[in-house]
Amino acid sequence: MANQLLSTVAYRDSLPEGYARPEHDRPRLADVRTDTNIPLIDLASPDRHRVIAEIDQACRTYGFFQVINHGISEELLEKVMAVGLEFFRLPPEEKAKLYSDEPSKKIRLSTSFNVRKETVHNWRDYLRLHCHPLEEFVPDWPSHPETFKEIISVYCREVRLLGLRLLGAISLGLGLEEVYVEKVLGEQEQHMAVNYYPRCPEPDLTYGLPKHTDPNALTILLMDPHVSGLQVLRDGAKWIAVHPRPNALVINLGDQLQALSNGAYKSVWHRAVVNAEQERLSVASFLCPCNSAVIGPAPKLVGDGEDPVYRSYTYDEYYKRFWSRNLDQEHCLELFRSQD
Ligand code: OGA
Ligand code: NI
Repeated sequence: MANQLLSTVAYRDSLPEGYARPEHDRPRLADVRTDTNIPLIDLASPDRHRVIAEIDQACRTYGFFQVINHGISEELLEKVMAVGLEFFRLPPEEKAKLYSDEPSKKIRLSTSFNVRKETVHNWRDYLRLHCHPLEEFVPDWPSHPETFKEIISVYCREVRLLGLRLLGAISLGLGLEEVYVEKVLGEQEQHMAVNYYPRCPEPDLTYGLPKHTDPNALTILLMDPHVSGLQVLRDGAKWIAVHPRPNALVINLGDQLQALSNGAYKSVWHRAVVNAEQERLSVASFLCPCNSAVIGPAPKLVGDGEDPVYRSYTYDEYYKRFWSRNLDQEHCLELFRSQD
């Protein structure tokens, strides 16, 4: 129901029913560390070998890195953030037209994560769009704000090019042919989530998004440059806040690159927390293998006489499995380990 959207109601003094997590499952914000070491990679560096080595190192350790000089202009990034915020400020009746809690819909405005299934809700509204091929989907995107389709289309095109460039560098970093990963993933789908996290009266009790890994191949995240909220799990135990850096994009690996790399690269747990002072917007772009792509460890990365860490499967099989679970259960890839 559209009236569940957080962005259409006035600020409240306490959490409404259904949002507070049990004691053992709260963000414990006081224990979170601030990190300045999330790798920051300058894609315009003339030393290409070094860039590839830096990406490789980041994928092996953090599973997360930030890129600067990525080729997408500051002006475009600002426009995307502005039009995203404007969207969530549309009148309730306008937003109600797009509301749906059916996860298979290709264009929908929704709230939390999976309202039909979950027992505790999250402090987030989101607009989810399919973005490739653009001609197929743009006609059904929101027509308000009026500049939305144009700005977001241009951004989607540029993000895709950046994603493919990064997949090339990732292939090389793994010691594979530059086109290897792109070929295996096939004609990739591209999805977008515009995440809106309103100010929250009790941020210690709830999440914007609880801990999860991304099921796709590669995620490119544009974050509000002034408000932090993204946190990454380090060494399986410590939550680290990723501080936004103006004009940087945050890149994280999804489960499919962990599988393809035979476990060498990490699709790490991350979450979004909320705060009482400021609303926050983030725009996540997901590159996803085509549904029929057969994913499994690259043979070259499996040692002689060893079994691959994961069995092969189609992305379709993986994706169905992912959505049939709760977001914060065990790593979905664990269900695809090779049997001894
Ligand atoms: C996501 C995600 C983090 C954020 O959309 O998958 O992890 O900071 N978002 O919004
Ligand atoms: Ni994510």
